Amino acid sequence: MSQPGFHCLTFGCQMNVNDSQWMARALVRRGFVERPLEEADVVFLNTCSVREKPEQKVHSALGRVRQVNPRAVVGVGGCVAQQLGVELMRRHPQVRLVVGSDGIIHAPEAFVRLLEDKGLHLNYLEFTAEYPDRDPCLDKNEGAGVTPVAFVNIMQGCDNFCAYCIVPFTRGPRKSRSSTAILEECKSWLAQGAGDITLLGQNVNVYGCDDGGDGTSFPELLRKVAALPGLKRLRFVTPHPRDFSEEMVQLFGELPQLCPRLHLPLQSGSDSVLARMGRGYDMARYLDLVSRLRKTRPDIALSTDLIVGFPGETEEEFRDTLHAVEAADFMSSFSFCYSDRPGTRASAMPFKVPREEQLERLERLQNLQNEKSAAWLVGRVGMNSDVLLEGRSRREAEESSDGRETWQGHDPWGDTVNLTLPTGVGRPGLLVPVHFIAAKKHSLMAEATA
Ligand code: SAH
Ligand code: SF4
Ligand code: F3S
Repeated sequence: MSQPGFHCLTFGCQMNVNDSQWMARALVRRGFVERPLEEADVVFLNTCSVREKPEQKVHSALGRVRQVNPRAVVGVGGCVAQQLGVELMRRHPQVRLVVGSDGIIHAPEAFVRLLEDKGLHLNYLEFTAEYPDRDPCLDKNEGAGVTPVAFVNIMQGCDNFCAYCIVPFTRGPRKSRSSTAILEECKSWLAQGAGDITLLGQNVNVYGCDDGGDGTSFPELLRKVAALPGLKRLRFVTPHPRDFSEEMVQLFGELPQLCPRLHLPLQSGSDSVLARMGRGYDMARYLDLVSRLRKTRPDIALSTDLIVGFPGETEEEFRDTLHAVEAADFMSSFSFCYSDRPGTRASAMPFKVPREEQLERLERLQNLQNEKSAAWLVGRVGMNSDVLLEGRSRREAEESSDGRETWQGHDPWGDTVNLTLPTGVGRPGLLVPVHFIAAKKHSLMAEATA
């Protein structure tokens, strides 16, 4: 028989993207090859339920799979799989595998069994007591060339139960991965040519503070990863402002590998809304943290997540969020209309903000942020920095014919950067010193300085 084909469809956060990439490597190891959706024997759909919209997308995606490839074995993973469980099989008979957040480790083997046994249905929906560590499948000959940018999970789940958030229900209780396994995975990525590593977790500041930890705290983990030979850049998402210790602030002055960019979710600029959300900090504390970070690392740039139209949010409370965006001077932000999620405290709160009002506030907030984001990029022009090359720019057509080619990568602040280099000079993973020459709407243009 020819090699079975697989196809992954992914919604949601970086953790899901990372899980899907692992799934792909784990299936390749079992003899599968990646194929277009129409030709795949197995389809893995990795889902998100953080708001209502991505949850709805799951059902439309399953409809599309049935239309274009009704013979494929479909497996669903991620947060909607955890939330709806085997109900997904009842609603969509093509689904023969459902894996929750901790059950995903079993999915590659399950796909092999499902192909052999046409009558079989499988589900793995239990939360495990410990971090379900898995072989990252990063053996040398399995790597598809150099991977300049890598993501490494350091924990799973969340115990915070912010009033609006479904994640503690879908990802389960917080549990830390052993620091040895994390360091081993980082080393494997470095051996594949990675220069930029991002550590992933729902609340990374409390890494190691649960029974699953091995006594290593998050600052200690960062020091250990930063010390690995070959690592050029270190990042992490997502920290919680409440749990951001002074030791963590100081690390930004101590570790040159730690990028001067921090994603620090604020959610709202109003103290009363923050209290209703159960975030555990107020604006004074958040801004104090921001000023200590800026003092320690003057070139640090901050980004954030914001929710508008949380239950009971008044116009005045919303304006506090606009003021906060000014006060914290975010280089970018993700902003969302509050969305009711089943089982959360906020879904039972009175005084829901009407949809039109939410959208109107969202637009005002995004207009303000767009101005600030544009100003950030314009302010970068004339500065020197470095770019870690990831691949050839998609705008091949723009290439001039004089023996130069366009490359794309990111600077330490996470900005997308395009630059042209003499043909044959660039390669994925190369760190190029640059000078920024122009700002586009969402990216920077640079030229190499050496
Ligand atoms: N632990 C992560 C949360 C991941 S969810 C963190 O703290 O960043 C990503 C973002 O989605 C959250 O920061 C929040 O801004 C948004 N979000 C979560 N639940 C939401 C809801 N019910 N409605 C609207 N936005 C929500
Ligand atoms: Fe990621 Fe949260 Fe969506 Fe789950 S609900 S996929 S953790 S963003
Ligand atoms: Fe959600 Fe708050 Fe945890 S946003 S993932 S409950 S930190």
